[in-house]
Amino acid sequence: MTELDVDFVRRQFPPLGNGWIMLENAGGSYVPQSVIDRTAAYMRELQIQPAWDFGPSSEALRRIMEGRRLMAEMINAEPEEVIVGPSTTLNVYLLAQAIGHWFAPGDEIIVTDLDHEANNGAWRRLAQDRNLVLREWKIDPESGELDEAKLDALIGPRTKFLAVSHCSNIVGSIQDIAGIARKIHAAGGHIMVDGVAYAPHRAVDVKALDVDFYAVGLYKVFGPHQALLYGKRELLLEAKGQNHYFIGEDNIPLKLLPGGVNHEFAAGLVGLADYFELVYRHHFRTPENSFTRRVQRVYELFQRHEDKLANRVLDYLKAKPGVRVIGQLSATGRRAPTISFTVAGRNSRELAEALNAEKIAIGFGDFYAKRCIEALGTAEQEGVVRIGLAHYNTLAEVDRTIAALEKLI
Ligand SMILES: Cc1ncc(COP(=O)(O)O)c(C=O)c1O
Repeated sequence: MTELDVDFVRRQFPPLGNGWIMLENAGGSYVPQSVIDRTAAYMRELQIQPAWDFGPSSEALRRIMEGRRLMAEMINAEPEEVIVGPSTTLNVYLLAQAIGHWFAPGDEIIVTDLDHEANNGAWRRLAQDRNLVLREWKIDPESGELDEAKLDALIGPRTKFLAVSHCSNIVGSIQDIAGIARKIHAAGGHIMVDGVAYAPHRAVDVKALDVDFYAVGLYKVFGPHQALLYGKRELLLEAKGQNHYFIGEDNIPLKLLPGGVNHEFAAGLVGLADYFELVYRHHFRTPENSFTRRVQRVYELFQRHEDKLANRVLDYLKAKPGVRVIGQLSATGRRAPTISFTVAGRNSRELAEALNAEKIAIGFGDFYAKRCIEALGTAEQEGVVRIGLAHYNTLAEVDRTIAALEKLI
């Protein structure tokens, strides 16, 4: 079986040579040189209003559209089904505005106490503004897991919507989104999935999942600080435009992108596709005829490597007295390598800062999943310490981190 050539991938990311062990990837990942090059090339060669039918202007538009097209293909969507916006928080807020009129007073929407606030606050506000009934799918306060039996009990004849994450940025467990989507659809509702913590670790296929809406944070999947929002074509057409009045209701996705796209970053996304192509070509000789499929093969490499890293961290932490690991204790497919923990009687800030002093880039706190941190009962310790691994981390880095932890706990 082909193994990820970690030295090769590391060479693509300039900041990896800075002497720090980067374990804050769940907060935001580094970008490869190809993204920097494509962004810089756009700014150096074009940076012109991409609206006109003359040389540089039409070339600028071509590069922007190419970035969006490739991102759509990456998640197996059509180009007009994806919005490239400034952040997931803003994309979801905008979506809530755009589909608010779908709901009548008394309709029920389900949110979780697991999700990042980005896929929480906008829906809770919508429920308040439109007199909807809010149902909360709560995690087990010990394990941090969402139990589907509890969801079954929440779904009823007036269920119209579920907002849930594919993977939590704290707990790291991967939900069976295809199965959950089937349940919501059977009840006549729609599903919005936050895939921000999932997409750096597994390929996303929105068609296979049959989700209605899906969010990917591009700056956590080695791209620029932008975010992707997918919506099924027919649903985006039914959503209410949030752009200027003269942008037609059939003009998707532009009607849902007030202010338009960030040109240089959209063009920079071509460099993200370049990165996946580069990794694919380096590891595989057999041709795959679609970019979507090549991306999937690359993610299979990432996963095998990340599972090894995660298991080494988990094996260490779970054997350590006084350490509480949040989520599953081994990476066997249903766990992302985003590993949160607390240490009895210790403050998470103090632990993270001690690791920072050893040049380990690591964070602590609630990571804006405040409800989750409170449900887990870790708020008083200033939340959790989070080891957010990415495919470019090495076993040697994990070992150095374990050695640093060993001095601390
Ligand atoms: C799971 C999850 N969802 C949403 C977000 C918010 O993304 P953005 O910063 O693009 O609003 C984050 C960011 O940390 C996240 O981890």
